[in-house]
Amino acid sequence: MFVESVVRWLLWSFLLQFELEVFAGSCPLRCVCRSEAKEVICSGKHLNSVPEGFSSDARRLDLSYNKIKTVGRRQFHSLPQLQELDLSDNSISMIEVEAFQGLQSLRTLRIKNNRLKIIPVGVFSGLSSLRFLDLSQNEILVFLDYTFKEMVNLQKLEASENDLVFISQRAFFGLQNLQELNLDRSNLTSIPTEALSQLQNLARLRMLRLTISTLPNNAFRRLHRLRSLQIMNWPTLETIAGNSLNGLNLTSLVISSCNLSTVPYSALRNLVYLKILDLSYNPITVIQGNLLGDLIRLQEFHLAGGSLIRIEPAAFRGLPYFRMLNVTSNQLTTLEESAFHSVGNLQILRLDGNPLACDCRLLWVVRRRLRLNFDGHQPSCTSPDAVRRRVFREFSEKELPKLFTCRPARIMDRKPRDARVEEGSTVLLSCKAEGDPSPSITWISSHKNVVTSTGRIRVLANGTLEVRFAQVQDSGTYQCLASNAAGNESLSFGLYVKEVPRNRTGPSFYTEEGWGEPSNPKAANSSAQIAKPYPFDAKTLIIATTMGFLSFLSSVAICFVFMFFWSQSKGQIKHTATIDFVPRSSMGGGGGDGGDGGRFTMKLI
Ligand SMILES: *[C@@H]1O[C@H](CO)[C@@H](O)[C@H](O)[C@H]1NC(C)=O
Ligand SMILES: *[C@@H]1O[C@H](CO)[C@@H](O)[C@H](O)[C@H]1NC(C)=O
Ligand SMILES: *[C@@H]1O[C@H](CO)[C@@H](O)[C@H](O)[C@H]1NC(C)=O
Ligand SMILES: *[C@@H]1O[C@H](CO)[C@@H](O)[C@H](O)[C@H]1NC(C)=O
Ligand SMILES: *[C@@H]1O[C@H](CO)[C@@H](O)[C@H](O)[C@H]1NC(C)=O
Ligand SMILES: *[C@@H]1O[C@H](CO)[C@@H](O)[C@H](O)[C@H]1NC(C)=O
Ligand SMILES: *[C@@H]1O[C@H](CO)[C@@H](O)[C@H](O)[C@H]1NC(C)=O
Ligand SMILES: *[C@@H]1O[C@H](CO)[C@@H](O)[C@H](O)[C@H]1NC(C)=O
Repeated sequence: MFVESVVRWLLWSFLLQFELEVFAGSCPLRCVCRSEAKEVICSGKHLNSVPEGFSSDARRLDLSYNKIKTVGRRQFHSLPQLQELDLSDNSISMIEVEAFQGLQSLRTLRIKNNRLKIIPVGVFSGLSSLRFLDLSQNEILVFLDYTFKEMVNLQKLEASENDLVFISQRAFFGLQNLQELNLDRSNLTSIPTEALSQLQNLARLRMLRLTISTLPNNAFRRLHRLRSLQIMNWPTLETIAGNSLNGLNLTSLVISSCNLSTVPYSALRNLVYLKILDLSYNPITVIQGNLLGDLIRLQEFHLAGGSLIRIEPAAFRGLPYFRMLNVTSNQLTTLEESAFHSVGNLQILRLDGNPLACDCRLLWVVRRRLRLNFDGHQPSCTSPDAVRRRVFREFSEKELPKLFTCRPARIMDRKPRDARVEEGSTVLLSCKAEGDPSPSITWISSHKNVVTSTGRIRVLANGTLEVRFAQVQDSGTYQCLASNAAGNESLSFGLYVKEVPRNRTGPSFYTEEGWGEPSNPKAANSSAQIAKPYPFDAKTLIIATTMGFLSFLSSVAICFVFMFFWSQSKGQIKHTATIDFVPRSSMGGGGGDGGDGGRFTMKLI
């Protein structure tokens, strides 16, 4: 037994000696040292603390997957040539000030997945050559001022998945060469604008999974070199202020999986170098026409998985380099050629996952079905029934003229319809049209303006024109225009409003509810329908009644005050007073409670 263990010990120390000799004289216990690569690998060795006895010419030290809890002051001072240090996946909760002092060649430092809560200022002192620092998956709460002060060469800082609630204004002071910063999954509740503004060479900023609901104006000011901004998975982000991206010169912007309901046109306006815009997974319903024209270098637009129901004509007008549109998985029924500056430049189109109506509007896509790159996902038809579920590639050239067709808009019931009404009445002019796809109806007023869906004169949802409380100046010709992708048709209506001679006792006034004075429209002479406004309303009645009641109460109150002063001035104290009053006839119910109708006795104090 004893001999055996002595032999084993000798053998072991011999091996150890051998290793030490191979690796410039020393290798820590339980570690593997590769002299030719100048590596010391102590990964997964159940170490409770940083071992000792490193060779001074080591370039790489791997201490990951151990149980190290603290890193002491000047722990690595004997390793001036070390370039890479990995402390990931330990239980480090404490790093003393100047822990890395002396590592003047260190380029990469990984402290990922530990239990750091606080990083005292000075921990990173001496790391002037560091290029990459990984602090992700710790429990860091704040970055204090000057934490990274000496890291003038740091290029990438990975700080994701911490409990960060605050980044102090000067925390990033000194990081003059930082190019990439990742701040995913932190508990920040606002953009650390001041701190970020120190990073004048930052080119890429990524912030995933934050609970911030608004991007305020000038949120990223002074980040002049920033080229790529990624904001993803902010489920509460609803507002992007118009000047929030001011000062940025981005080439790529991602704001996806947030809660935006509109494309933030005004915030995007100044990003004239933008090439890629990704707004996927936001509940955006429309891409409006002519509002992205400032992004003259835009090449790609992604809005996958949104709530798009319409891409308006000219949506991408003015974008000569536009080559990729990704609108997979939305609610689009069509995509018209007129949305683009020139479909000739379009190379990649993701249109699958939409309830497409295969009519003449999509003919341009199906004609290019062999040339366009659908990214492996062919679009397919949802309607009409004859082609339901058929994918675009399957259609033969011969079928196309019969299948992808439209019927031009046509106004039904075209007999001339003039409406003659009296002032104050309400007129409905109906205009119905048919066609495939179903036509849209526009009304042009006698002053050549397009009538909107709000106001006294408005277009109802079913295309009917409504003129409420018609006035003489409303008279004129109104034009109904029905149009769809295949054509348009228009029809004119004359409206004649006759002045009603009035017998006024007071001035009449117009309110949203109607004329303040009774008007008496006689049956109007047309197919138009008339509604009668009412003479007066409940509100007026209530006000009138209340006024009467108040004046009654105030006369009683004045009476009381008078009696009080009278009794005082007499010098003698009168303890009771009897008050008589005559209730107003309109308020008869108010005072008639006592037996004698209008009298009660009160005590004076
Ligand atoms: C940070 O957020 C996570 C998840 O929302 C939560 O569990 C944690 O307690 C928060 N930490 C702090 C310091 O607020
Ligand atoms: C997203 O916005 C809608 C309304 O705009 C709101 O009802 C919903 O609660 C928001 N979702 C989140 C996660 O804030
Ligand atoms: C904006 O970025 C582009 C390329 O990314 C660059 O050519 C241009 O000079 C920059 N403009 C400004 C004002 O920095
Ligand atoms: C389009 O968007 C989907 C969903 O985000 C994505 O998976 C796909 O890669 C995108 N296609 C292209 C060509 O970028
Ligand atoms: C259009 O709608 C209005 C009110 O919603 C209704 O009074 C009118 O009859 C409708 N017209 C037609 C032609 O359906
Ligand atoms: C209506 O159609 C004509 C040609 O048929 C066209 O010139 C005109 O621009 C169209 N008008 C509208 C508003 O679509
Ligand atoms: C006002 O009405 C009375 C009858 O109600 C009528 O005799 C009189 O001519 C009217 N005045 C005007 C100016 O219409
Ligand atoms: C106006 O109505 C009257 C009866 O109410 C009718 O006799 C007359 O023909 C109508 N005039 C027009 C232009 O419709």
